[in-house]
Amino acid sequence: MATAMSTPVGLLFWFVLLVAAAAEAAGEAVGPKVPAIYVFGDSTVDVGNNNYLPETRAKVDFRPYGIDLPHSRPTGRFSNGFNAIDFISSHLGFKRSPPPFLSLKHKSVRRILYGFQGVNFASGGSGILDSTGDSISMSTQIKNFNAHRSNMTARIGKGAAARLLSRSLFFISTGSNDLFAFSNKNNSPNVTEKAIQLIADMASKYTEHIEALHGLGARKFGISDISLLGCCPSSRALHPMGECISELNEVAMRMNKATEALLTVLSSRLPGFIYSFGRTFNLLSNIISNPGHLEVKSACCGGGSFNGEENCSPNSKLCGNRNGYLFWDMVHPTQATSKLAGSIFYNGPAHLVGPLNLKQLVQG
Ligand SMILES: *[C@@H]1O[C@H](CO)[C@@H](O)[C@H](O)[C@H]1NC(C)=O
Ligand SMILES: *[C@@H]1O[C@H](CO)[C@@H](O)[C@H](O)[C@H]1NC(C)=O
Repeated sequence: MATAMSTPVGLLFWFVLLVAAAAEAAGEAVGPKVPAIYVFGDSTVDVGNNNYLPETRAKVDFRPYGIDLPHSRPTGRFSNGFNAIDFISSHLGFKRSPPPFLSLKHKSVRRILYGFQGVNFASGGSGILDSTGDSISMSTQIKNFNAHRSNMTARIGKGAAARLLSRSLFFISTGSNDLFAFSNKNNSPNVTEKAIQLIADMASKYTEHIEALHGLGARKFGISDISLLGCCPSSRALHPMGECISELNEVAMRMNKATEALLTVLSSRLPGFIYSFGRTFNLLSNIISNPGHLEVKSACCGGGSFNGEENCSPNSKLCGNRNGYLFWDMVHPTQATSKLAGSIFYNGPAHLVGPLNLKQLVQG
């Protein structure tokens, strides 16, 4: 009797174990899928570094920024809520995305290593070129990472630090501000020649940045392209018919091609280098050409035509249904858009993220 009873229970027990093992094998286990995430770039991934810069113009430490975050608190994110790196961190099994580097001044290395599992060095307004913006340049972001790495190495040793870094995700989102600065300066019709020069300069500097990070132990890179800048509200506001500025989209597309080309070269040249390249340009093109009920032209917060002529400020008019908007302010996406971009980066199809998506990248 006892054995007859125990058989089904035993089977059920083994079945549950098998299912759990299969889920784990499929990468569905709880807990982070990488030891840490290090983030570099501009406002698309800044989580508050610029709050610590008294002089920069690129600062959003006021409402209504952050209105959809817990306690409706402005954190320095250029969004009504969370941004793409927040969602990516969540997909990778972290409770929260890595904190801003400048918030860690008085935190111990131990706390940074085991409490936060990564650091965010990104700074709104920065570009690939160090001359772009008035915030923390890409080169300084990499220097800051190097300082963090030295402290970490001193604490856990060279081998352990190298192992940790080689398995971590290095996420970069930059380049838009270089193109905005360029297009603000050049409204001549003969933009092509200068644009080609700019792209060459950007590509060579981008290569240097990635090589520097690789030299410091980075192996797994998540790289965002430059988005469809010519269709953001600030661009539409400049167009007499309220259409996209196709020249700016053209330059962005060419820079994205140059980035893809340099990534291909780097992956054959740098030992262990693997990457995931996210194509938000294509994602936004798809959405804008097939918007459904989504508002894809006007920003939720701002002023002037398309809410694209004035910065979003405490006195701005604000849309009601923020999830119904592609853009939060004149250049930045809403939380809803970032959420979508985050899940595309994580496990989207090859035409939107490649040659690996982040899920595949962290398994390799
Ligand atoms: C490195 O450690 C020193 C000494 O604890 C500390 O003062 C400094 O802020 C740390 N730097 C970084 C980048 O973590
Ligand atoms: C404009 O571009 C064309 C071809 O790219 C070049 O031959 C010409 O010299 C340029 N003109 C000016 C004014 O820069």
